[in-house]
Amino acid sequence: MILSIESSCDDSSIAVTEIATKKLLYHRKISQEAEHSVYGGVVPELASRLHAVGLPEVLKGALPYIDRLKAVAVTNQPGLSVTLNEGVMMAKTIASLQKIPLIPVHHLKGHIYSLFIEKETISPLLVLLISGGHTQMIRVSDFEHMEILATSMDDSVGESFDKVAKMMGLGYPGGPLIEALATQGDEQHFDLPVPLRNSPLLAFSLSGLKNAVRLKVEACGGAQNISMQEKADLSASFQKAIKLHLLQKSKKIFAKEPIKDFAIVGGASANLYLRAAYENLCQEFGKTMHTAPLEYCSDNAAMIGRYAIDAFAYHQYFDPHSIHVEHTKKQQNGTLL
Ligand code: KG4
Ligand code: ZN
Repeated sequence: MILSIESSCDDSSIAVTEIATKKLLYHRKISQEAEHSVYGGVVPELASRLHAVGLPEVLKGALPYIDRLKAVAVTNQPGLSVTLNEGVMMAKTIASLQKIPLIPVHHLKGHIYSLFIEKETISPLLVLLISGGHTQMIRVSDFEHMEILATSMDDSVGESFDKVAKMMGLGYPGGPLIEALATQGDEQHFDLPVPLRNSPLLAFSLSGLKNAVRLKVEACGGAQNISMQEKADLSASFQKAIKLHLLQKSKKIFAKEPIKDFAIVGGASANLYLRAAYENLCQEFGKTMHTAPLEYCSDNAAMIGRYAIDAFAYHQYFDPHSIHVEHTKKQQNGTLL
């Protein structure tokens, strides 16, 4: 069995997965959304202190398995360094005490493996990763070869949902709030620019759209005065502009990539409006679409554990003392570290 730990942002999560069967034996997470909501986003120091309490709490349910562990896996990049550190410290302690190795896990590869929880892997696979920190199109050839084909030049999809929600005084996380409000709104009501529409660049950019939304909120009298109907219309119009942007760039990649299997992963992949748009695109291009169950779209240790099973098979485990939090730079196109 492998015990896995996830603390890269605002979820304290631990799982136990059986290596031979890939069965998820234990999984629990404590989300800090309510605590960060008042600030309209994640406050790293607060998140770190909450992990210090949350991780030992979720570890309790994994204790019956502790003597049967072959390795401990932990997210060590990318993420908030102060929160990653909480998970890495716990992982090192458990692995050292149990005299077992440690598997460092790249969080984005974990998201890709959310597709394979209690399942076999699918490859080759084209993956759109839309989370709070990243927007990337990735070609997954196999476990060792994952290449970024297009990446975000500024705000990620999840981040822009969060910032737009904050502008309208909706709370955090913004994604589910805006998706729900958008169902009550008219997506034609506000004219918003589709980013990089006329640019040949294979990249994603959302900061211009975010600023366009800011101007609309100001024109409606600001967060204090904007009406509920205007909020709903703006949510719907904003979501539509994001959809058109993602689809436009994805079409260009689909036209060049013969890979038949496509997936969307990451927190924002829980958005049913975006999922439906990609279902249609896949039909148009004859691709099969895959998604993770909704409960595994946002950060969780189950996906980290599933990745760790393959890492273990590839002998990617190390002495616990040699593993640290890695300070990952925002990556441009190229190999996913
Ligand atoms: O993958 P995740 O849990 O954390 C990171 O790795 O960043 O993603 C969290 C992000 C947040 O920005 C949140 O607003 C967004 O995912 N999100 C959504 C939805 N549910 C969560 N965005 C759009 N629509 C949703 N339904
Ligand atoms: Zn994530």
